[in-house]
Amino acid sequence: MVIRPHTPDDGPALWTLHQKTGLSPFHQSEFGNWLKQHITWVAVWQGNLAGFVLIQDTLDHQDVLLLAVDPLYRRQGIARSLLQTLFPLKKPLFVEVEDTNTDAMNLYQTLGFQPIGGRHNYYGPSRHALVMRLQ
Ligand SMILES: CC(C)(COP(=O)(O)OP(=O)(O)OC[C@H]1O[C@@H](n2cnc3c(N)ncnc32)[C@H](O)[C@@H]1OP(=O)(O)O)[C@@H](O)C(=O)NCCC(=O)NCCS
Repeated sequence: MVIRPHTPDDGPALWTLHQKTGLSPFHQSEFGNWLKQHITWVAVWQGNLAGFVLIQDTLDHQDVLLLAVDPLYRRQGIARSLLQTLFPLKKPLFVEVEDTNTDAMNLYQTLGFQPIGGRHNYYGPSRHALVMRLQ
């Protein structure tokens, strides 16, 4: 597996992969703007774009805004490797995760993230976010 910064040529494959997750109902143009504005690392597995993480970098912390691994390539350590590209952390790293998303919550816990709060109805009616922090 190769992990590298994304390039503009990755845009269509990233959009296709993002749509497979069923998360964040973006318009494609908005997704493209996020790619331009934030830091994105991609994981390439056997020549295929298998996963990506999109990070917002601010003065005093970072946020995981999007993280996705293609269902074909899950449970092979790709998400963990993508997040570990940020290690050693230079500042605290935060993520919001839907409190029913046990796959992602397990992932963040194994990396040392701690739950620090919640956001009620963050994803819509009766869909709550757990806020997690590392460091
Ligand atoms: C969550 C997601 C990114 C995990 O990607 P992945 O590459 O399969 O995860 P990894 O293989 O790196 O898993 C690392 C650890 O996370 C936990 N984990 C990941 N998927 C899990 C699952 N389906 N069930 C239980 N634990 C899981 C495990 O502790 C795992 O370690 P292990 O395989 O040694 O037991 C992937 O399932 C995904 O894209 N889901 C849809 C999008 C999403 O929910 N993104 C996160 C939004 S905050």
